Amino acid sequence: MEIKKITCIGAGYVGGPTMSVIAQKNPHIQVTVVDLNAQRIADWNQEDLSLLPVYEPGLDAVVAEARGRNLFFSTEVEKAIHEADMIFISVNTPTKTYGKGKGQAADLKFIELCARQIADVSESAKIIVEKSTIPVRTAATIKNILDHTGKGIQFHVLSNPEFLAEGTAIADLHNPDRILIGGEDADAIQALKKIYEAWVPAERVISTNLWSSELSKLVANAFLAQRVSSINSISELCEATGANVDEVAHAIGQDSRIGSKFLKASVGFGGSCFQKDLLNLVYIARSYNLHAVADYWEQVIKINDHQKSRFAEKIIQTMYNTVNGKKIAFLGWAFKKNTNDTRESAAIYVADHLLEEQANIAVFDPKVREEQIYEDLDYLATRSNDENRALLQVQDDAYAAADGAHGLAILTEWDEFKELDWAKIKTVMKKPAFIFDGRKLLDGKKLQELGFVYYAIGE
Ligand code: NAD
Ligand code: UDX
Repeated sequence: MEIKKITCIGAGYVGGPTMSVIAQKNPHIQVTVVDLNAQRIADWNQEDLSLLPVYEPGLDAVVAEARGRNLFFSTEVEKAIHEADMIFISVNTPTKTYGKGKGQAADLKFIELCARQIADVSESAKIIVEKSTIPVRTAATIKNILDHTGKGIQFHVLSNPEFLAEGTAIADLHNPDRILIGGEDADAIQALKKIYEAWVPAERVISTNLWSSELSKLVANAFLAQRVSSINSISELCEATGANVDEVAHAIGQDSRIGSKFLKASVGFGGSCFQKDLLNLVYIARSYNLHAVADYWEQVIKINDHQKSRFAEKIIQTMYNTVNGKKIAFLGWAFKKNTNDTRESAAIYVADHLLEEQANIAVFDPKVREEQIYEDLDYLATRSNDENRALLQVQDDAYAAADGAHGLAILTEWDEFKELDWAKIKTVMKKPAFIFDGRKLLDGKKLQELGFVYYAIGE
């Protein structure tokens, strides 16, 4: 099976970077990324690469190399489907907000829409690749829709979950730990393998049956999130006992069976994947009546929620049990550094908690737009949109955010925060000047020497 044209449906955080790298490494294949969102496509076509809709270190160079050569961004969904030999489905699969499974199950309406559109438009054989994260056995639904076109067209469905992390997407795509392909048809699997083997060593391309591949994606995220919740639970115990969570993480991480990665205590994990995929895993386990399994994984989310509210409570308690009318500077709003993505960011929930106590918040984040910050808060619907704008301001730099603040909280571990002139910040803040380091980013000793009252998670 010779693949000459690839189409990817969904030009988001996964579709955009993933297809850019596939096109970069396979110059002989035409790659078209389509989306219903015309603004997003226009942004992917921006001449000024600093305006791409996704901020990822190194992405601009990859797009510059491939765009217009064999990489195209378009709103012509049907045309691109019609022409393609292989179609990646990379649309969003958020947690359902209505009906059965509300708040837990994955909403598959966008996936089903894609399958129906492919069924309607196709006139030739195609390989369909599930790139989105989906519940185990979704391929059966897609296949069922495609098998009922009555046109006698052959479709093969493969599962090919994406493991990139935001902020390091290009490095992860260039050098993946593994590529996972689930499928039934050996030729279809081989056709997809060949695309990756343009740059990934063959031994890192794993193939499994469809269901193992689909499930592995949810399980990988559940294990990663579980490590963060595990260390975060220990951070609270460290604070109560005088142990230091970084020292504990280092000591246990040296055991090669445990390993040192993903043991950084924080204000809580965020991002579009961990919570959504854990909830989905819990929902699936319950739907098979596996309640002990569901309860086990649900606890990972509960600890994460606890960590976020514990941080907010710590701020309130330390500032003499009231933040009413006090200004608190937030450095960082993104869910981690090196991304402009704010989905499920801990900052949103900490801010919401403090706003309930009538605090004033001033936010600075180097990559997140002001409208996005308000949208994130408005979405929670805890108070009116006007109240959010009255209580929270967005600033263009850290010094303006800190000016006149009673307290300052680090919500995202942006490297540039380490380089700030902390002596200057001390002079513009109210005294005592409190710092709450939710990322264990700063040099606490130095800040204490400068006269700050410094609190970090797990110390
Ligand atoms: P996203 O919201 O950034 O992008 C999805 C895009 O799909 C949107 O631009 C939307 O307009 C478009 N879309 C939806 N339905 C469409 C349709 N019928 N036709 C055309 N376009 C359509 O989402 P994302 O972060 O890129 O995630 C996509 C999938 O990848 C999800 O299933 C997610 O779980 C998974 N995933 C995400 C990450 C990550 O780090 N963000 C990592 C691995 C896997
Ligand atoms: C995650 C998975 O890592 C990736 O493989 C999958 O494809 C998508 O979901 P992502 O959410 O982009 O990627 O970022 P990740 O680096 O996993 O961080 C998730 C959250 O956990 C962030 O808020 C991060 O700050 C937090 N985290 C991570 C910690 O608090 N401590 C850690 O040790 C690691």
